[in-house]
Amino acid sequence: MSGQRNIYKPLKARLTEVIEESPLIKTFVLIPEEDFSFSTGQFIELSVDGIGEAPFTPSSSPLIHDRLEVTVMKTGYVTEIMHNLIPGVFMGIRGPYGRGYPVERFFGKEVLILGGGCGLAPIRSLLYALEHVKDNLEKVILCYGSKTPADCIYKPLFNRLNSIDKFEAYRTVDKGDEEWDGPVGVAPTLLNNVSVNVTNSVAVVCGPPVMMKYGTLKILEMGYKDEQIYLSMEKNMSCGLGKCGHCMMGEFFVCKDGPVFTYNEIKDQPNIWD
Ligand SMILES: Cc1cc2nc3c(=O)[nH]c(=O)nc-3n(C[C@H](O)[C@H](O)[C@H](O)COP(=O)(O)OP(=O)(O)OC[C@H]3O[C@@H](n4cnc5c(N)ncnc54)[C@H](O)[C@@H]3O)c2cc1C
Ligand code: FES
Repeated sequence: MSGQRNIYKPLKARLTEVIEESPLIKTFVLIPEEDFSFSTGQFIELSVDGIGEAPFTPSSSPLIHDRLEVTVMKTGYVTEIMHNLIPGVFMGIRGPYGRGYPVERFFGKEVLILGGGCGLAPIRSLLYALEHVKDNLEKVILCYGSKTPADCIYKPLFNRLNSIDKFEAYRTVDKGDEEWDGPVGVAPTLLNNVSVNVTNSVAVVCGPPVMMKYGTLKILEMGYKDEQIYLSMEKNMSCGLGKCGHCMMGEFFVCKDGPVFTYNEIKDQPNIWD
């Protein structure tokens, strides 16, 4: 967690680099004025002075405290302004907030990860954390889908993962182009070809709501139990602190009780896929 820091007060962070990941997605490299710690899967509120703030899950390694990467998809008012920022400006970071991935509970197991679109941002942070503890894991399999080859983010990540012992990474696209010679189909179709020992495995799902829903159903079909499936939930948020009620999902505050839940914890709550 955050040690001595006041999690209510934004920490100033200098934007040092903006990486264009896809036509709609950019990664912001930030150097905080003091070290910033988070657990993988926790989120921050990132602000632009005088404009507003929005919740994001850092995409960088939780083991690095003097540099933070946040991957942002342009979807509306605040994210559009963020996309126009240039290196040198200061941003604000509140947090970290919520409950991330319980990495120790994955020890001794295979970890099957299903991601789609910008959902690879939190997953990349998780992959860094898993790489650090890989001696305690059986294997890690990433299945990722993007709409088109151009929409795929962190392209070099896939070759890198495939070069690490115990790691496997697969990509698909909904629609190919003239250069694409890989699989075509939505992200969960990749699960048809993976080899996992379901009883000694956990599954992690992160992506757009429709992929979360059908990906989870597919993983259940493969024989996973509800409590073996970890979902990173995104609900509209405001305070991030369990106070305003914006993020309520049935009886849970997604900002405080999540954003990472097991399917078992939330499956009976209303509108979980909205
Ligand atoms: C815990 C958490 C982690 C997230 N991590 C990331 C991340 O790593 N990268 C990333 O690009 N996005 C992430 N998001 C989504 C991001 O917060 C929204 O895209 C952002 O708040 C939109 O702000 P805006 O002002 O640009 O859009 P607005 O102008 O407010 O809205 C534009 C559109 O975005 C939708 N939207 C607004 N807020 C959210 C929200 N909180 N979640 C989902 N949709 C929203 C609106 O319904 C609307 O359709 C995360 C959201 C949560 C709750
Ligand atoms: S965002 Fe305010 S209670 Fe969760």
